Amino acid sequence: MKKFPPLLSDFPVIAHGGDYNPDQWMHRYPEVLTEDLRLMDLAGCNTFSVGIFAWSHYEPKEGDYHFEWMKDLLDKLHAAGKVVALATPSGSKPAWISKAYPETCRVNEQGLREHHHKRHNHCFTSPVYRKKVADLNRRLAEAFGDHPAVKLWHISNEYSGECHCPLCHQAFQDWLKDRYHTLDELNHAWWAHFWSHSIGDWSEIDPRDSSIDGMRLDWKRFVSHQTLDFMKAEIAALREAGAQQPSTTNMMGAFRDLDYWRFAEVVDIISDDAYPQWRNNEKDLEMAAVLACVHDMHRSMKQGKPWMLIESCPDAPQWHATSRLKRPGVYRSEMLQAIAHGADAIMYFQWRKGLGGMEKFHGAVVDHEGSENTRVFQQVAHMGRTLEQLAPIAGCTTHAEVAILMDWDVRWALEASVGPLKIPSEDLYMTPVFQAHRSYWKQGIATDILESLSDFSGYKLIVAPQLYLLKPGVVDRLQQFIEEGGTLILTYLSGVVNESNLCFRNGFPGGGLRELCGVWAEEIDYLYEDEVQEISFSTDNSFALSGSWQTQRTCERIHAEGAEVLATFDHDFYAGNPALTRNRRGNGSVFYLAAKMGDDFWQAFTAAIHQDLKLSTILNTDLPDGVHLRSRTDGEREFIFMQNFNSAPVKLDLGNWSATCMESGEAVAGTLSLPAWQTRILERPL
Ligand code: GLA
Ligand code: ZN
Repeated sequence: MKKFPPLLSDFPVIAHGGDYNPDQWMHRYPEVLTEDLRLMDLAGCNTFSVGIFAWSHYEPKEGDYHFEWMKDLLDKLHAAGKVVALATPSGSKPAWISKAYPETCRVNEQGLREHHHKRHNHCFTSPVYRKKVADLNRRLAEAFGDHPAVKLWHISNEYSGECHCPLCHQAFQDWLKDRYHTLDELNHAWWAHFWSHSIGDWSEIDPRDSSIDGMRLDWKRFVSHQTLDFMKAEIAALREAGAQQPSTTNMMGAFRDLDYWRFAEVVDIISDDAYPQWRNNEKDLEMAAVLACVHDMHRSMKQGKPWMLIESCPDAPQWHATSRLKRPGVYRSEMLQAIAHGADAIMYFQWRKGLGGMEKFHGAVVDHEGSENTRVFQQVAHMGRTLEQLAPIAGCTTHAEVAILMDWDVRWALEASVGPLKIPSEDLYMTPVFQAHRSYWKQGIATDILESLSDFSGYKLIVAPQLYLLKPGVVDRLQQFIEEGGTLILTYLSGVVNESNLCFRNGFPGGGLRELCGVWAEEIDYLYEDEVQEISFSTDNSFALSGSWQTQRTCERIHAEGAEVLATFDHDFYAGNPALTRNRRGNGSVFYLAAKMGDDFWQAFTAAIHQDLKLSTILNTDLPDGVHLRSRTDGEREFIFMQNFNSAPVKLDLGNWSATCMESGEAVAGTLSLPAWQTRILERPL
């Protein structure tokens, strides 16, 4: 596997920097810019996102454009050797737009038009808003499309939200016409005759009617589609005006409302914003695992291409419920974990704390105090030096044999449906996805995160937790994957509905999965909190697992129809019924797990599969809890990240291999000590 070319052209390093808003300072405190340039060098920062919220400086009055200040800023950053992600400022419109064109303001679910406030408050459909944004984007591209500092277009900011204005409802109805063509098709897809909600005219459709769960799913899809369409129009305006640089948009982890797989197809570079809340207790391991999963997803979105951590906080964000200071080891672990999972950029929100506004107390590289003498500045400067040492890792990627599926449609469909499960305290879909991922993460086994439409070839194992909704063609592709030698793990609540959220007839898992799994899932049981159910492995099963394991509340009563029964339920009227099965098909096999299980089971299950499939790991030993290993490679060398997310030191037995520490240059062999919240980055030939 070869290296990817540098993310930002002619810039073959790991980018380090952040959001920079000198527009807030330049009128009253012009000297700050000169001071910033001095501090940027001291902090080892080289890359800045600028102009994200600068519309009112570009166009203080309608048609009165001012770009000279940005030109001056870009010239200065360029002269200082910095590179820039130049934003399109659509994420926050000036007040004159809201005043002159009320249609640009969102309408809430109650039908009230919002007054001008905060940001991310615009209607994604409004032709006026789209025109204003395109005009400005075009002018920005004309002014700066060939500026040598500009290496990337940062499209808007954290797209989010929905609008219920007449324009948006009309656009939803048009989108449905394209999708269903006739009302008869629509009424069937939505099962709309239920409660006499049949749609007699397209104009009757109101997405706020929660009784039609098919419509709720389609509304989610539409909002994601309309936001994406808005982003495409933003990029098109830049391209029309000749801008050539790649584009990105800052995602928000696995944000519930937007199908980021579709966004990933449109942007050139994947970027993410991450603001984990560390707790200074054992919950931090769960936090680190969730981050690892989300990072894996961002790396997988462009087949292993490095991504940018484009926003993170070097200290405490002011909006966390408890704004605990980020302890130095925690900060370092968080940033290096992103690199371990494929990031080629560490950037912060924000470079300098503003003096006012809602974010004046948000952590930043430069404090109100203003010097390089703060703890946070010093730790960022240390990171800057480390990232220079890690430059050979830029462009390197990770090869994973395991893929975990995560589909927004599945998530939306589950959440739109009333039942069969209700877990108010949990994310119905992401909790099992994170849990499956965590079991591999804990064992140092690399994982990609894919969607059900991704290419499955090249993987040994696919894990699809709660594949509740089946998109067309997915079962055929899974079947091909298995027959060619792949292993698939499915769980309870698989193949329940089709793309429209309509239940399959003829038994779950439907859509052809029943035959593939050799299992019929007849009923699903949801236990009270104080009830206990267990599963036990039969003594003569062909799999390397034994013993009894406690389930967690969700249990399916399934029948084996050709599949081997590996474990059965222990209690209640379905004692003796299958709980875990394996069906062999072609050269591969499919497991069906009929109960929600705890982490202890998933760990053991993963270890047994690991043995069975001989999955690659970095170290062939049991890793201490909280120790995480990842590697990136350029095809000749391997760069190994060993991270300890515990508050206590650990020792790792490196077995018979040796490597060089990238920071100290020392040879490392034998037993490696990892202090609390520390990372070692080792290099060795492949
Ligand atoms: C988001 C936004 C930033 C800033 C940070 C604060 O990520 O994109 O503009 O508000 O949150 O954490
Ligand atoms: Zn609208």
